[in-house]
Amino acid sequence: MERIVIDGPRRLFGEIDVHGAKNSALPILAGSLLSGGETVLHNCPQLTDVDAAIEILKVLGCTVHREGKTVTVSSDTMTQNEIPEELMHEMRSSIVFLGAMVSRRERVRLSFPGGCELGPRPIDLHISALQQLGVSVDESHGILDCKVEHGLHGAKIMLAFPSVGATENIMLAAVTAEGVTEIHNAAQEPEIVDLAGYLTKRGAKIRDAGKSTVYIEGVKSLHGAEYTVMPDRIVTATYLAGAAATGGEVTVRRVVPSDLESVLPIFDQAGCKMRIWQDAIRLEGPGMLHAVRNIRTLPYPGFPTDAQAPVMAVLTVASGTSVFVETIFENRYKHAGELCRMGADIKIEGKVAVVRGVKKLYGANVRATDLRGGAALVVAGLAAEGKTRISDIVHIDRGYESIEQAFSALGAQIRRER
Ligand code: EPZ
Repeated sequence: MERIVIDGPRRLFGEIDVHGAKNSALPILAGSLLSGGETVLHNCPQLTDVDAAIEILKVLGCTVHREGKTVTVSSDTMTQNEIPEELMHEMRSSIVFLGAMVSRRERVRLSFPGGCELGPRPIDLHISALQQLGVSVDESHGILDCKVEHGLHGAKIMLAFPSVGATENIMLAAVTAEGVTEIHNAAQEPEIVDLAGYLTKRGAKIRDAGKSTVYIEGVKSLHGAEYTVMPDRIVTATYLAGAAATGGEVTVRRVVPSDLESVLPIFDQAGCKMRIWQDAIRLEGPGMLHAVRNIRTLPYPGFPTDAQAPVMAVLTVASGTSVFVETIFENRYKHAGELCRMGADIKIEGKVAVVRGVKKLYGANVRATDLRGGAALVVAGLAAEGKTRISDIVHIDRGYESIEQAFSALGAQIRRER
């Protein structure tokens, strides 16, 4: 069983490029299923979740070629209409393939994606939206059996919650549907804008992606395109968290600072000094971090739920008490117990986490509970006194390209041991 071992504390110094965004690459790879030409995707991150998405494309009959950070997909050879159960369970977000699949096939079968470490991951918003676009969905025995008997047609869809995945599935199904689709209360995350950028390059007609109402005019067919995935804003926040927690000075490059408009003020309130360029951010951690009174996770442009765990790791050693309110997922504090094993003082009460700053953390044997929770343990280990061993790091590899090499390049004593 692989583990990450960290000897701390070590202040981080240096510069690092941020890799492509997992949460943009995945829906774009799903979009490569849409008929018409070849997709050449640059800056595609080397992550196990991306490997799983490529596996799904191959199982569906697509030709996929990967060369470093460039993935080339030709989906004209798509022959299958079913994603095997084991692949659906390997990556819960593979539900985002549904929208593109129903635009290609009259019958699509997927196993229900099931829950994950963040709690039950319902897909009611996905299903009701696709039904409005002309998909009949039968859910039984854990299988989603979808039929498109009279083709897909545009609809005016009101989302009860600005679900990122549901917004993406609607976009993927609507771009070649008959007529106009409106998505009201759409997710506004930068990854939505990136997906729209890719689809538009392929000839789709999409207006106001990134706003709360998105308009899509269906086109007969798409053509091939080359596209470059946006930088990963959560990986950016994680690297900055490492600098903040260790009192170091790190410059993250090839980033979009405006994607972090609700995260940077939190580092500022915690006492970090920052300098911002067009595609880079330098953060200098203070000698003593200050607590941040109230951090509430919200849909974009609010504070992102994916940054909650890494930022909590930073604030465990701040002076004063910080309060988090996790409004997006039901069960996204599993990392708190592991941080407490390292000496943190965190009390969880439902959606609220009260983090009372302690003087220092101590190395310990801990377990990654989920992707961002695992990243939080790495951040904590960088600042902790002594040796931290993190197991179950498969979670971390889903969303971070070789996290130990990234932090080692910034001066951390960190390694992966088999
Ligand atoms: C995407 O998940 C991201 N994953 C998540 O990142 C991210 O945390 C989340 O958006 C919120 O920003 C990918 O993009 C692959 P949602 P998604 O649909 O699409 C409820 C990471 O760490 N909901 O916006 O699944 C749902 O239960 C991952 O990189 C319904 O109730 O998020 C949750 O409470 C973790 N019914 C909330 O909405 C539905 O039909 C947010 O879900 C769909 C969602």
